[in-house]
Amino acid sequence: MNAVTSAETLRNSTAKPDLITVEEAKVMDVARMTDLFKAHINPGQLHFMKLLGFHKVKIERAEGMYYYDQNGRRILDFFGGFGSLAFGHNHPRILAARQKFQEEKRHEIAIAFMSQYASALAHNLAACSPGDLDMVFLGSSGSEAMEAAVKLAERAAGPQRPKIVYAENSFHGKTKGVLSITDGALYRGEFKLVDNNVRVPFGDIIAIENAFKADPSIGVIVLETIQGGGGIVVAEPEFWRRLRALCDQYKVVWVADEVQCGYGRSGRFYAFQHAGAVPDITALAKSLGAGKAAVGAMIARRDIYMKAYGTPKTAMIHAQATFGGIGEACITAIEGLNVLYDEGLIDNAAETGEYLLSELRRLQAKYPKIIKDVRGQGLMVGLEFQDFSQTLPMVLRPIVSVLDDKLKGSLSGFIGALLLRDYDTLVAFTEYNRNVIRLEPPLICQKSHVDDFIQALDSLLDRGIVSIVKDFVKSQVS
Ligand SMILES: Cc1ncc(COP(=O)(O)O)c(C=O)c1O
Repeated sequence: MNAVTSAETLRNSTAKPDLITVEEAKVMDVARMTDLFKAHINPGQLHFMKLLGFHKVKIERAEGMYYYDQNGRRILDFFGGFGSLAFGHNHPRILAARQKFQEEKRHEIAIAFMSQYASALAHNLAACSPGDLDMVFLGSSGSEAMEAAVKLAERAAGPQRPKIVYAENSFHGKTKGVLSITDGALYRGEFKLVDNNVRVPFGDIIAIENAFKADPSIGVIVLETIQGGGGIVVAEPEFWRRLRALCDQYKVVWVADEVQCGYGRSGRFYAFQHAGAVPDITALAKSLGAGKAAVGAMIARRDIYMKAYGTPKTAMIHAQATFGGIGEACITAIEGLNVLYDEGLIDNAAETGEYLLSELRRLQAKYPKIIKDVRGQGLMVGLEFQDFSQTLPMVLRPIVSVLDDKLKGSLSGFIGALLLRDYDTLVAFTEYNRNVIRLEPPLICQKSHVDDFIQALDSLLDRGIVSIVKDFVKSQVS
């Protein structure tokens, strides 16, 4: 029997296959990790990891603002899991709450009986939310929360008004429903999507009013309050107030996607609170799981919810799925919300975010040929670089043009890769605007962390564009 046949035979029997144990997984080296990633997860993605130097890193531990890799290197985390790490890594209160829950052998699945944890988390979310945003659906991801939001909105709007307005450069998730209102050609691919949509420029109230006026079958509008994937784009407070008024006038249900910008990141619990306008439905995820659990939530006005699912006949149409309201995830989120307020992290996001923005503006004034724009709110900050593809010296253009399409014309890939390689600093990239680096550090970020980050960036930019590009190219062959 050859090796292939024997593995196949084993798979078809009930004998234990060749399984990796938890302890073996922990000590796995980078080469094996890479082989398994290629064999079983996503071989194509490795290509991008190599461009950015991520493929050499194996994280052994993470605490607070830092990752620690296999060589004991400490990496400052200004990526923050795209806003998923309000408390940084492994906050002691979150760990303690989870440990106690496990030791007490509490129950997890909440399908048969009601769960005190799900009820408490729903109460807490309603308490954090303005107006009558009181009804909560719990799930396990941002996409799931947004699916719930769009389905609820559609039912509340009624069958005569099935059309949904969404924004250019929007990102609401990759599951098929919300993919229909996600404006990324790459993600949309050639999938057959729902086509009852109307796309408008983000922040353009006139375009929205015209759409509402022209088409009475529009019943729903879905917008991120601050666009993340679009490159950290903020609309004026007046836009949101006028949107609220228009939605009231035309009886359109407003869904605010706060999956990335919510949970205190902007300096208010919800970013829409800066404008004093309250949507009909909103959604949170990412940091809601306090960096340890997968939790998403849709929070809706009670009258909207009751209209859609308020009777015994309609109650089960979109009730919680298997893992919605699971015990340990809920208590993690409950403890997280308490920590958020106990540690004053929303105010810290506002203050430290303002400091980060002002320091970046100082660098923009110092390097106007490199930094095009600095923008954001709280600790959700975008750093846009000049498109240098035309200004680069002729001698470098052929080298750069052989690099991947995704990085061409964009400094952010080069700068991100070198910040990691030379300054042990991690930043995030942006789906639709490759010239933008996203900075979404944990909300525990202090001014000293900002100083470290600014010092690293300053030192890198001081090399000048030509050296940065050359250093990056060299990093690809070393
Ligand atoms: C604004 C926004 N909505 C929805 C999602 C989808 O969340 P998830 O990746 O948890 O499904 C994301 C994820 O990045 C997001 O940024």
